[in-house]
Amino acid sequence: MAGHAKAYHPGDTISLKCGPLNAGKSVKLGRYIDSGGSTSIFQLADDPSKAIRLPKDEMLVQFDAKMIPPSQFITFFINGYAPMKNAGVPVVRMYDFCKGKYVIVDYLEERLSLQDFLVQYDHLDPKERETIFNALVDFALTTSPFDDIGDFKSTSLVYSKSLNLWRLIDLTQHHKRHKSENSDETPFNYLFREVEILQLLQDGKIRKQVLDGLILRLDEAIQMKRHHSCEPELSRLSPTRTNHEEIGR
Ligand SMILES: Nc1ncnc2c1ncn2[C@@H]1O[C@H](COP(=O)(O)OP(=O)(O)OP(=O)(O)O)[C@@H](O)[C@H]1O
Ligand SMILES: [Mg+2]
Repeated sequence: MAGHAKAYHPGDTISLKCGPLNAGKSVKLGRYIDSGGSTSIFQLADDPSKAIRLPKDEMLVQFDAKMIPPSQFITFFINGYAPMKNAGVPVVRMYDFCKGKYVIVDYLEERLSLQDFLVQYDHLDPKERETIFNALVDFALTTSPFDDIGDFKSTSLVYSKSLNLWRLIDLTQHHKRHKSENSDETPFNYLFREVEILQLLQDGKIRKQVLDGLILRLDEAIQMKRHHSCEPELSRLSPTRTNHEEIGR
C-alpha cells in the first residue's frame, strides 16, 4: 500500500491546532511509515514512540459509493475510537487529536497484521501460531457487543509479540452494535468479503481451509460469549445455576 503521493514529508512542521492536549504547540514529522487509502503515517521526530496520522493528500476517496476528502477519515477515526475503547476492544492508544486534521497515536514497531498472519500461517512454528491464535480469540471475545467494527479489515488488526496482544490500528465510526439475538454477524464475518483477502485466496497466498477454520473458531467464540452473557439473567430465575463466571470470559 506504500508509495502513494503524500502531502506531507519528513521534517515538515505540523501545528497542533485544536488540542485537546497540545493546542498551540507543534510537532516535527520524523520517518515516513506508510500510507493507506486515505492516511499517511509518520513517526514524530522528537518522540519516535509516537506516530501521527495525517490526511494523505487532497484526492477524494471512495467511501460507500460517495467520494469524500481524506481528512474525513481522520474524523471517522476519532469518532470511532471512544466506542471501541469504552467497550474494552484493544485499540492503539490515542494521545491527541483534531477532527479533520490529525491523530497522534502510539507508534507500533511490532505489527504482524491479521493479513500477515493468514499469509504466514503455514510457515509459523505451530506453538507460536497457537499462542498468536489464542490471543486473537481473546481479541475476538472483546468484540462480542458488535456485529461489525467500522472499516474492520485484515490490515487494521495487528499483533504484538512482546505484549501477546492484538490491537486495532485503524478504524472508522461505522460500527454496528449487536442488537438482535437472531443476528449471528461478527466483525470477522466481514473478512470473507474483503477484496484483498479474496485476491490472496485466488493467488494461493492464503489457504481457504485456513481462513474458513480460523473465522469459524473466532465466530464460535464470540457466539458463546454472547450466549453466556445472557446467563446471569437466567441465574436469577434458577438458583441452581451459579457457575457462569467459569463459562464466560
Ligand atoms: N500506530 C501505528 N504504528 C505503526 N504503523 C502504523 C500505525 N498505524 C498505521 N500504521 C501503518 O500504516 C499503514 C497504513 O495505515 P492505515 O491502514 O491506518 O491507513 P488508512 O489510509 O487508514 O488505510 P485504509 O485506506 O486501508 O483505511 C498500516 O498498514 C500500518 O502498516
Ligand atoms: Mg483507514
